[in-house]
Amino acid sequence: MPADVVTMDKLVSLCKRRGFVFPSSEIYGGISSSYDYGHYGVLLKNNIKAQWWRAMLQERDDVVALDSAIIQHPRTWEASGHLAGFTDPLIDCRTCKLRFRADHLGASACGRRPSRHPGETADCDLTEAREFNLMFQTTIGPVADEGSTVYLRPETAQGIFLNFRNYLQFSRRRPPFGIAQIGKSFRNEITPGNFIFRTREFEQMEMEFFVPPAEAQRWFEHWLEQRRNWYLRLGLRADHLRLRAHGPDELSHYSRATSDLEYLFPIGWQELEGIANRGDFDLTQHSRHSGQRLEYVDTVSGERYVPHVIEPAAGADRALLAFMVDAYDEDVIDGERRTVLRLHPLLAPVKVAVLPLVRKDGQPEVAERIHAQLRERFQTELDASGAIGRRYRRQDEIGTPWAVTVDHQTLEDETVTLRDRDSLAQERIAIAALADEIERRLRAPWRSPKGAVDDSSPST
Ligand code: GAP
Repeated sequence: MPADVVTMDKLVSLCKRRGFVFPSSEIYGGISSSYDYGHYGVLLKNNIKAQWWRAMLQERDDVVALDSAIIQHPRTWEASGHLAGFTDPLIDCRTCKLRFRADHLGASACGRRPSRHPGETADCDLTEAREFNLMFQTTIGPVADEGSTVYLRPETAQGIFLNFRNYLQFSRRRPPFGIAQIGKSFRNEITPGNFIFRTREFEQMEMEFFVPPAEAQRWFEHWLEQRRNWYLRLGLRADHLRLRAHGPDELSHYSRATSDLEYLFPIGWQELEGIANRGDFDLTQHSRHSGQRLEYVDTVSGERYVPHVIEPAAGADRALLAFMVDAYDEDVIDGERRTVLRLHPLLAPVKVAVLPLVRKDGQPEVAERIHAQLRERFQTELDASGAIGRRYRRQDEIGTPWAVTVDHQTLEDETVTLRDRDSLAQERIAIAALADEIERRLRAPWRSPKGAVDDSSPST
């Protein structure tokens, strides 16, 4: 595979320069691994989430939506196994004052001492590994006592299980059906890092799909395929996306089988999304701990069972990072280097830029009129400042797929040029036809021009 021009440093710099993502609390010196999304970052992340909702809700009949609370009853986390088992083995170096995950150093069992850490010197003094719970703890109410301890959810999934009964009773759902939600999750990660790849506060897009037990394997395979295709349809290059099944020693405490969709980030192949067969673990556990029956009963046949659960669990921030990495490109136009984000048009923060060639002769007024028309249907920007070449570059850098240029001919015949970010083709088009043409292009199948995309390539 040819080397990619993108590096994490280039991407971080673009994100800050163009207002996608800023390091958080910078005026106070920053806070480690916390990030704020700026204007274009918000638009891009919203588009990713909207496409996820679309695939889950609009394009299917068997998934419904939920938005559950971040703080749930603390017994939730006893039942889910997070209180006892959501831990990472932690090791400190007393000399360097650095902290590591023991499993990253090749010593997974608590109490085992790894031999080395990156950058180790002769006088390094490592502690033994000890299990560290990743849940953020806080208290409810003004007095912190034993009964007031609660946790910020480390996954959105549990809110779905707690509501399972509501969907059976009030929405009259019967398996197979899914409940989807997008929301913030919190993990006190020992080693956050690599920009927004691993942070302590992040957004998840999770769906729990409840199925008759005998159908679990079929639905597991169905969701593996659906989720892979979702990324490909949105333009991720197929040779940068792969499926990897977890080995038995990697499985989470709740999982019967998990496969990760992995993306080839500049830091190597890493998990983008996990698809798990959770069996009946969660519903059974919540049933035991709450004393409530969490099962499906067929009122006609009398059949009853605890559904099994297939879970595609994605990270919105990590998906944003993958889409940006995949889109980042550099080329040379008329002897000038440009940075361009070749984002799928549906994901691009701004769909159309309207640019008057000069700030005179009535061109700005026509550009304003076109802008007012187009913004009814698309996220648009009007940019009249600076040389036209510079304005194109600014839009290329944030991934705007099309630019409409108003010139002297526009004043004569009500036509404009429509410039394509990737092919650089400029077509003359009537203003009256502009919005429909942009809509048509927006809905057309799209492939990344950055590399060969082959949807039929086998997943590995
Ligand atoms: N409910 C299952 C679950 O939470 P997970 O693999 O721990 O599974 C799912 O998380 C996805 O959430 C990951 O594939 C990743 O995209 C995202 N994610 C998890 N931890 C994250 C973190 N610390 N920072 C950013 N994204 C994270």
